[in-house]
Amino acid sequence: VPSMTKYQASLATNYTDTSEVVDLDWENLGFGLVETDFMYVAKCGPDGNFSKGEVRPFGPIAVSPSAGVLNYGQGLFEGLKAYRKTDGSILLFRPEENATRMITGAERMCMPAPTVEQFVDAVKKTVLANKRWVPPTGKGSLYIRPLLMGSGAVLGLAPAPEYTFIIFVSPVGNYFKEGLSPINLIVEDKFHRASPGGTGGVKTIGNYASVLKAQKIAKGKGYSDVLYLDAVHDKYLEEVSSCNIFVVKDNVISTPAIKGTILPGITRKSIIEVAQSKGFKVEERLVSVDELLDADEVFCTGTAVVVSPVGSITYMGERVEYGNQGVGVVSQQLYKSLTSFQMGLVEDCMGWTVQL
Ligand code: COI
Repeated sequence: VPSMTKYQASLATNYTDTSEVVDLDWENLGFGLVETDFMYVAKCGPDGNFSKGEVRPFGPIAVSPSAGVLNYGQGLFEGLKAYRKTDGSILLFRPEENATRMITGAERMCMPAPTVEQFVDAVKKTVLANKRWVPPTGKGSLYIRPLLMGSGAVLGLAPAPEYTFIIFVSPVGNYFKEGLSPINLIVEDKFHRASPGGTGGVKTIGNYASVLKAQKIAKGKGYSDVLYLDAVHDKYLEEVSSCNIFVVKDNVISTPAIKGTILPGITRKSIIEVAQSKGFKVEERLVSVDELLDADEVFCTGTAVVVSPVGSITYMGERVEYGNQGVGVVSQQLYKSLTSFQMGLVEDCMGWTVQL
């Protein structure tokens, strides 16, 4: 563990006394790691209970080469964001949803998980300790990355005897290099992301390593990312590597139903609720790839991507374009409504934000 600077030590003992903001190039934040002052670490032994946990200087952690996570991929992650309001206070968006999703995922991966209360408390502590890294209003957000891993040593295939829960953070801007401009997707025709009975519906780390190959090929051809089809029929939309997908036709918004192979996105769920509250009909169902041909708009949702408009999708060599390469009206309206809640620009009538 690196030693604490005097400044870090003062932050560690007084989380709230950090009104200053770091000097960063806030205009050009992308989605890359910017190391901050602190991270949170808690451990859990065979009794299944997590230690109290501590905020400590950000830095490398020591794990056995035989750790369950390194050898057999026993790990989960989460993602959520903190925004700075114009009055300087900080808002978290639905952190309990991440906590419950981690509990569900941990059950699938045979891991113990922090309780909702432990999780949310740890997120708050980590964000407050790193408060000066939360971008000024309108310049981005602080991306929060909770990790749960089998850190105990194993050799034979079995759940690890010890678990580590870590939270680190990084200020971020737009996820795609296109910024807020529409992205170009290609429907994946060789690889699948998930199959029935697998782990596609939980946020296990292996789901993300396994999509790198298709993503790399697509990027090499100039696409932003790939859109996966279901592994059984090769016909129904699933999701993009890092986000969920929505299709708009005649003001009806459709998105693939959650059925075990699709990540139950918190932004996905929030967009459904926002759209319904605005009077849109929202359908969670099987969405056939053919529906992309005559859709009015397509957009992606995720914590990292927020709401990203899709400008084109290429399927079997045919490219379909949406919204004349501009941002569709429905996508724009939903983006604005969601981010207004996240940034505290409107009253939180949904009860979604947690103020720090
Ligand atoms: C997120 O949106 O928070 C994710 O976990 C996706 C990740 C690939 C950045």
